[in-house]
Amino acid sequence: MERTILITGGAGFIGSHVVREFVIKYPSYQIINLDALTYAGNLENLKDIENKSNYTFVKADITDATVIMDVFQQYQPDGVIHLAAESHVDRSITDPTAFVMTNVIGTVNLLNAAKEIWKDGFEGKRFHHVSTDEVYGALRETGLFTEDTKYDPHSPYSASKASSDHFVRAYHDTYGLPIVLTNCSNNYGPNHFPEKLIPLCIHNILNNKPLPIYGNGKYTRDWLFVIDHAKAIDLVFHNGKNGDSYNVGGFNEWQNIDLVKELCRQMDEKLGKPEGTSMQLITYVKDRPGHDLRYAIDATKINQELGYEPSVTFEQGLSKTIDWFLSNPNWLDHVTSGDYQKYYDKQYN
Ligand code: NAD
Ligand code: DAU
Repeated sequence: MERTILITGGAGFIGSHVVREFVIKYPSYQIINLDALTYAGNLENLKDIENKSNYTFVKADITDATVIMDVFQQYQPDGVIHLAAESHVDRSITDPTAFVMTNVIGTVNLLNAAKEIWKDGFEGKRFHHVSTDEVYGALRETGLFTEDTKYDPHSPYSASKASSDHFVRAYHDTYGLPIVLTNCSNNYGPNHFPEKLIPLCIHNILNNKPLPIYGNGKYTRDWLFVIDHAKAIDLVFHNGKNGDSYNVGGFNEWQNIDLVKELCRQMDEKLGKPEGTSMQLITYVKDRPGHDLRYAIDATKINQELGYEPSVTFEQGLSKTIDWFLSNPNWLDHVTSGDYQKYYDKQYN
């Protein structure tokens, strides 16, 4: 079947894996990757597929409603997979407005453009909004987020994502726009930008720098390998029920300190260093303001309704991730030069 799918944020961490999954798996689809190439967007992530005949890159900013409408008019996508976002919680604490602009206004611009070009009928059309488990707020020591958990965002990032989720549902309820949402737990894997915990620690171990652990390190996250997230998006985009949300996760909770210790163990082994070497770099630092204690996803719905299963264990996924970073030193050098250093100094020194 021929289709045109517009993927936003396709040059970012998760977006690049989604673009690759679709370009390779669906040669009869035209895949349009729309991305503004902010600090987090990097076309090096897509070098291996950039010359495929079913792939097109469009540099555009979703906060510009006119440009977005022009892109939709030109390419006439029948599906949208929306990943473009400001994604880092710490940056949302220092600059919340950027998160409102891209995550809220940008999402509404895309919804308006889809509604306009699909005004003659919604048959065969779909707007897939990619969101986060952070919209549900924080869990205490027990319990899991289900699709029915009440929204309770705490950070400017999660508040902006919650708002965008509400707009997506509002366009479904008000105008009948065909939508699906996915709310996923923490991703890790190749191409992860080193402002996030796992790639930041990999980079710092390689450079013999401190591994900053916020607060007491007992905060808990539920980690999913990024390629498994891309596979979940493929399933929900094609088979999810119109108007529904699906939580995506791997039942894989780790306290930050235990995760960083496991990372140190695997890094020492791969780098041929005596066990315990990297662990000495662990440094407890000032806590993140409003830090959510625990996230954990109940992925029963996507498993039972769509047959979704993650393909790797955490130990395997982490090993693949470290191997990728060790094999791609140039990628890491490029993304950690220039503005990254300024960000790092401001955030950690
Ligand atoms: P990322 O920060 O790595 O990439 C974001 C991409 O969006 C970049 O390519 C960037 O250039 C692009 N972008 C940013 N602002 C834009 C704008 N105004 N116009 C056009 N493009 C713009 O993010 P990520 O970690 O890959 O996350 C992708 C999506 O998945 C986000 O919506 C995020 O909320 C969601 N999500 C992320 C995680 C995670 O663990 N990283 C988990 C669940 C959900
Ligand atoms: O849960 C999904 C979310 O996961 C996504 O929606 C976000 O886009 C993504 O960034 C991620 O958010 P987190 O804030 O959980 O990820 P981060 O890697 O920034 O932090 C993971 C945990 O590690 C968190 O408890 C904060 C802690 N941390 C983070 C950094 C960067 C540290 O202890 N030290 C650090 O230097």
